[in-house]
Amino acid sequence: MRASSRFYLLNSFVFVIVCFLLYFVVITRRLETEQLKISDVLFEPSKEHSNVDYNVWLIFTKVTNKSTLTFKFQNLISNLLNVSTVPLKFHIIVDEKSKTIAKYKLSEVVYSLNKSLVYTFYNVQDCSTKLSDIVNVMTPFFSSRPGTYFSDALFYISLGLYRIAPSSQKRGILLDCDLYFKKDIALLFDEFDRFKPTALYGLAPELTPVYRHILHMYKLKHNTTFGDYYCDNSITEGIHPHGFQGYNSGVVLIDFEKQRESKQYLQMISRESIKNMTEKYRFRGHLGDQDFYTLLGYEHPDLIQTLNCGFNRQLCTWWKDHGYSDIFKHYFQCNHSIVVLHGNCNTRIPKN
Ligand SMILES: *[C@@H]1O[C@H](CO)[C@@H](O)[C@H](O)[C@H]1NC(C)=O
Ligand SMILES: *[C@@H]1O[C@H](CO)[C@@H](O)[C@H](O)[C@H]1NC(C)=O
Ligand SMILES: *[C@@H]1O[C@H](CO)[C@@H](O)[C@H](O)[C@H]1NC(C)=O
Ligand SMILES: *[C@@H]1O[C@H](CO)[C@@H](O)[C@H](O)[C@H]1NC(C)=O
Ligand SMILES: *[C@@H]1O[C@H](CO)[C@@H](O)[C@H](O)[C@H]1NC(C)=O
Ligand SMILES: *[C@@H]1O[C@H](CO)[C@@H](O)[C@H](O)[C@H]1NC(C)=O
Repeated sequence: MRASSRFYLLNSFVFVIVCFLLYFVVITRRLETEQLKISDVLFEPSKEHSNVDYNVWLIFTKVTNKSTLTFKFQNLISNLLNVSTVPLKFHIIVDEKSKTIAKYKLSEVVYSLNKSLVYTFYNVQDCSTKLSDIVNVMTPFFSSRPGTYFSDALFYISLGLYRIAPSSQKRGILLDCDLYFKKDIALLFDEFDRFKPTALYGLAPELTPVYRHILHMYKLKHNTTFGDYYCDNSITEGIHPHGFQGYNSGVVLIDFEKQRESKQYLQMISRESIKNMTEKYRFRGHLGDQDFYTLLGYEHPDLIQTLNCGFNRQLCTWWKDHGYSDIFKHYFQCNHSIVVLHGNCNTRIPKN
C-alpha cells in the first residue's frame, strides 16, 4: 500500500471516529435534556431472568397521526406504564409509516410520565410471512371477506406469535389497543401461574351471544351446552357442563415455550382439523383467531385456560339490538373484580 493511501485511510478513520463521538455526545445530551429513556434495541433477556419477563405484544399498523388507533395506542401505553408494578417489555408490530408515528407517541408518553420504556418493533410483512401457512388454513373459515391477505394475517397473529417472538421469550400477552387497565397488569401475568399443565393459551369468555348465533344450526339438532350463557367460566373444567359462551381474543395469554414444543398444537392448526371442527359444528365464523379458540374450547378444552371475565370485561352491546335483547344480559354480566375494560366495537370506556 502506498503511503498516501495509508494516510488517506487513517484520515477517514479519524473522521469516522470523530463523527461517532460527536453523534454520541449530541444524542446523549439530547436524551438527558429531554429525559427520554427509550431503548430502541432488540431485547434479548439473559437466561436467568427470562422466566420473569413481562412481555406485552401490540399491533399498530396502517395508522396516521389522527387515527383513532393512534389515540388508543398512546392512551393504552400511558395507562399500562401508570398501573404496572412490573417492568414491562413492549413488542410492537408495525409497518414503516406507523413505526415513525409509534416512536413519536412513545416518546411523548415517556416524557409526560417521566418513566422509562423498553420496546422492540417488528415489521408486519416479516410477521405475516412467518404466519402464511396458518393464515391460508384459517381464512376460508373465520374471515368475513377472505382475500385481503394483509389484514387477514393480523387477524391470526396470536396463533403464530410463538414464531415471531425471540426464542428466548417464554411467554407473552397480546393485547388489543382498545383496552383500559383499572388494575395492575401484574395481576394478569399472575394468571400464568394458574395455568393447568396442558394449557397453551389463557382467554376470558366472550360476553355476547355471538357463538349462540353461529351454532344455531348445530344446536337445533344436538343437545349441547355450547353457546349457552354461563358467565362464570372461570371454574369450568373440561366439558363446560353449565354452558360455554366461547372466547374473546382482546386479551390473549400465550405460553410460547409450551407451544413451541406441542405436537398437538400443530395438528390442531392443520387444514384437516379446522375442516373437521367447522363441519361438525356447522361453524362459519368472522372473528378470526377467537373463532378458532372457541372451537378449541369445544374439542380440546385442555389447551386453554379460562380466565374470569374481569380480565377482559367487554363493553360492546351490538348483539343486544340484533335479535338477542331477551337474553343478552345473561351473556353480558360479569361479577368478577374488573382488571381490564375492553371498549370493543368502538364503545367508549368509562374511566372512573
Ligand atoms: C405526526 O405528527 C408529528 C408531530 O406533530 C410530526 O412530527 C410527524 O411528522 C407526523 N407524522 C406523520 C406521518 O404525519
Ligand atoms: C395515573 O394514575 C393516577 C392514579 O391512579 C391517575 O390519577 C393519573 O391520572 C394517571 N395518569 C395517566 C397519564 O393515566
Ligand atoms: C424524572 O424521574 C427521575 C427519576 O427517575 C427524577 O430524578 C427526575 O427528577 C424526574 N424529573 C421530573 C421532571 O420529574
Ligand atoms: C340434554 O342433555 C342433558 C345432559 O346430558 C340431559 O340431562 C337432558 O335431559 C338432555 N335433554 C334432551 C332434550 O335430550
Ligand atoms: C378428521 O376427521 C376424520 C374423519 O372423522 C378423522 O379420521 C381424522 O383423524 C380427523 N382429523 C383431525 C386432524 O382431527
Ligand atoms: C351476578 O350478580 C347478579 C346480581 O347481583 C346475580 O343476579 C347473578 O346471579 C350473579 N351471577 C353469577 C354468575 O354469579
